[in-house]
Amino acid sequence: MSKSIRIMFLLSIAVIFAFTSSVMAADPIIIKFSHVVADDTPKGEAANYFKKLAEEKTNGAVKVEVYPNSQLYKDKEEMEALQMGAVHMLAPSLAKFAPLGVKEFELFDLPFIFSGYEDLHKITLGPIGKKLLDKLQPKGVLGLAYWDNGFKVMSANKPLKVPADCKGLKMRIQSSKILDAQMRALGAIPQVMAFSEVYQALQTGVVDGTENPPSNLYTQKMFEVQKYVTVSDHGYLGYAVLVNKKFWEGLPADIRTQLESAMAEATIFANDIAKKNNEKDLASVAASGKSEIIKLTPEEREVWKDALVSVHDKMADRIGKDLIQEVYQAIGFQK
Ligand code: LMR
Repeated sequence: MSKSIRIMFLLSIAVIFAFTSSVMAADPIIIKFSHVVADDTPKGEAANYFKKLAEEKTNGAVKVEVYPNSQLYKDKEEMEALQMGAVHMLAPSLAKFAPLGVKEFELFDLPFIFSGYEDLHKITLGPIGKKLLDKLQPKGVLGLAYWDNGFKVMSANKPLKVPADCKGLKMRIQSSKILDAQMRALGAIPQVMAFSEVYQALQTGVVDGTENPPSNLYTQKMFEVQKYVTVSDHGYLGYAVLVNKKFWEGLPADIRTQLESAMAEATIFANDIAKKNNEKDLASVAASGKSEIIKLTPEEREVWKDALVSVHDKMADRIGKDLIQEVYQAIGFQK
């Protein structure tokens, strides 16, 4: 090898080495994913599964940091943090979208609108669900998917067998106006409160009762401070996965595609575990002996429906009459 060829050879080795080590040492893209529930809930497990898939599919070019249990932000602050880009990904309950200026999501709170997950998926996996997510774009937010949780139970320190049993009780609700109207239709006094504060509020008697799917009732230990749990399945609680639009659109296209694929798989996972998870947690609440589980007969449940279905018409202007009609048609809803 002549001297100049040898120098060129060594130089190219040095360049290749420098390039490879700089690629290897490149800082990963960090995605901060904040949520308010425990790890062992449908949302918590799905967030952790998304993290695993996202990191695998991008070969470590992306690192997802999941912050559960309101560690980073509470309900209202997390929406603001997302819009400001302080956090990149959230999965808030659909009952918490009004502060973003999109009240239509409160349609998911209408009592007794969905008779089960099958009805619900006609909306969340269909064109109406997509149309709703599109409304988020002007707010600087993209909706990537809907993740299931489940149907709510009502709890208190007195048995709630008929709607009149709720009269005068202070009931904690999420910030939705539909839930406010629902509790008022029962004669209860609704109190909006961040999720992270509910356990203590129940324990100290700041509120008398609440509603949530069993997964939240169990993992936040609310059942330890509520003597009775009525399996009313009177309404649904689920999520939309949101990302900061500017952040997401600024990602390299190949990375975004890999993340979208991770999200599609995590969504199937979330919707697969939600029902089982809630059934398991309701069984654990029953087994704890701390709360008595009240199961309603179909006739008893019909009495709750009669008391609450009027909320649909009362709140139609807030959600949009046409949108409600579209949902009724899509799922064949009958009052
Ligand atoms: C609640 O505030 O009760 C729920 O939205 C919490 C959650 O994210 O499931």
